[in-house]
Amino acid sequence: MVENILHSEAIKKLRRDLRRAITDWDYLSGISGEGPIAEFEAEFAKIMESEYAIALTNATSALYVALMASGIGKGDEVILPSYTWPQTLTPVILTGATPVFADIQRDTVTVSPESVKKLINRKTRAIIAVHLYGIPSDVFTLHKIAKDHGCILIYDSAQGLGSYLNDKPLGTYGDFVAYSFGRSKLFSVGEGGALICRNRDLYEKAVAFSQHPLRIHKDIDNTEMREKVDGISMNFRLHPLVASLALGQLKGFIKSGIFKQLKERFKEIYETIKSTDIRHILPKIPEGASPNGMCLPLIIKRKDDLLKIKSLSEKYGFDIYLGGLQRPLHLTETIKRHRFIFHSDLRKSFIPSHKTHNHGSCPNTESRCKFQKQAFIKITDDVLRFKESA
Ligand SMILES: Cc1ncc(COP(=O)(O)O)c(C=O)c1O
Repeated sequence: MVENILHSEAIKKLRRDLRRAITDWDYLSGISGEGPIAEFEAEFAKIMESEYAIALTNATSALYVALMASGIGKGDEVILPSYTWPQTLTPVILTGATPVFADIQRDTVTVSPESVKKLINRKTRAIIAVHLYGIPSDVFTLHKIAKDHGCILIYDSAQGLGSYLNDKPLGTYGDFVAYSFGRSKLFSVGEGGALICRNRDLYEKAVAFSQHPLRIHKDIDNTEMREKVDGISMNFRLHPLVASLALGQLKGFIKSGIFKQLKERFKEIYETIKSTDIRHILPKIPEGASPNGMCLPLIIKRKDDLLKIKSLSEKYGFDIYLGGLQRPLHLTETIKRHRFIFHSDLRKSFIPSHKTHNHGSCPNTESRCKFQKQAFIKITDDVLRFKESA
């Protein structure tokens, strides 16, 4: 969706770190979380107005770490929207918990709190909401629901870097917030991610599950937890050179005002389309929300309307991409047949079938996915190209 650019700031920083890495193997390994990893984490946490950030391989691993650090496993239920990227779901399956699919709201692309409320029960341990296309979920209602039921609230903000709600970055909302710096994101270093953790306890648990023992012993203050850690952890740290690239890229983006410019473009294009006679469905933007402008998902029902949008795109200099999420996750083969790749039978260890695993259980999602022609208005490429040549 988004063409990547390497900001000159990022190239300079990477060059410096690469030179050092040639002679300093510890620096290159980043095994104890020092060097570029620590620098990136500190900067990312600052940008997110949060205290704790962990640099990880990608958003998929960040979501998995969040679930594991929350102690979620077999017998638990995790509510997530059916309308999202499949990697929101994979980590849930891997924990052994049962995925329970909530619908999206009719006029937005984000999860419906009403649908979540109907599904929540004593087995529900976590809710994952997705800031899809950088458009914020209804975080205040979701926060209340999670608090009332004692559930962990995890945000999949893979697409949400640069989005704000009530002048706060989306990383400030929720117990855990997962970010992606992978391909096609607004901000990309090819592959990478980060996890924002609400407090010290959640941070230490996430470190204990995702890092090398050297970092675990260095970072964990809780003596009881440190004593329990016996080296059985995952190895999900971001490569230090990618952390270096990410830090330079992030600083460069902020310094050059790209994030701000994208948002202004998004608003302009949104208002322009809204004021035309084209029959379209634009997602409602929540009050106080300032989406990052990654793209604008748009459903166009008729071919002549698509042609009109195309001519608008030429006039205003934005690109259109036809495609998008076309399969509700609750109706995927994995869920339907209870088979994860390689034929393991999920009924024995993972997913017992649930009433949300059937046709009709998420009507808004199903109807949205039926439209084969969703148009994503890419508003980034031209802005980025303009910035680089300026
Ligand atoms: C909503 C959402 N969640 C999760 C992911 C997975 O991110 P990553 O590729 O960094 O693992 C993506 C990636 O596109 C995504 O869009």
